Amino acid sequence: MADDDGVAGYAVSRSIGDVVDLQRIGVSPAHQRTGVATVLLDELLAHPGEADRMMLEVSAANVAAIAFYRRSGFAELATRPRYYRDGSDALVMSRDLGSGRMVR
Ligand SMILES: CC(C)(COP(=O)(O)OP(=O)(O)OC[C@H]1O[C@@H](n2cnc3c(N)ncnc32)[C@H](O)[C@@H]1OP(=O)(O)O)[C@@H](O)C(=O)NCCC(=O)NCCS
Repeated sequence: MADDDGVAGYAVSRSIGDVVDLQRIGVSPAHQRTGVATVLLDELLAHPGEADRMMLEVSAANVAAIAFYRRSGFAELATRPRYYRDGSDALVMSRDLGSGRMVR
């Protein structure tokens, strides 16, 4: 996603069976808190393919991202202690992608 000032943000996900793994989402500092990540996430959520939930890992130290994910409907599922190189824990977060898709 870009505007005249350059890249505003990006998001990368990977579908593995029933799960969409949100691998990265980032917004340039100049564009943060303007809804860019919300638009990017909504775009991914609009194309779930066969998946029925989205999952991600985030550092327990990343207060901004955790606030964004909670606000976007994600709930904490598990903690991976000392998962990152800096020693911080990883939170595993998950969000149902809703009904309306065929159950196989
Ligand atoms: C986390 C991140 C992607 C959020 O992007 P964003 O475009 O600023 O998010 P939005 O503007 O869509 O925010 C939607 C809501 O999330 C919450 N939120 C977002 N950033 C927040 C912050 N810094 N502090 C508290 N709440 C925050 C708010 O509820 C916000 O709504 P509001 O602005 O009306 O209060 C951005 O801060 C970022 O790129 N951080 C660095 C990279 C990163 O940590 N990525 C995630 C891990 S890979």
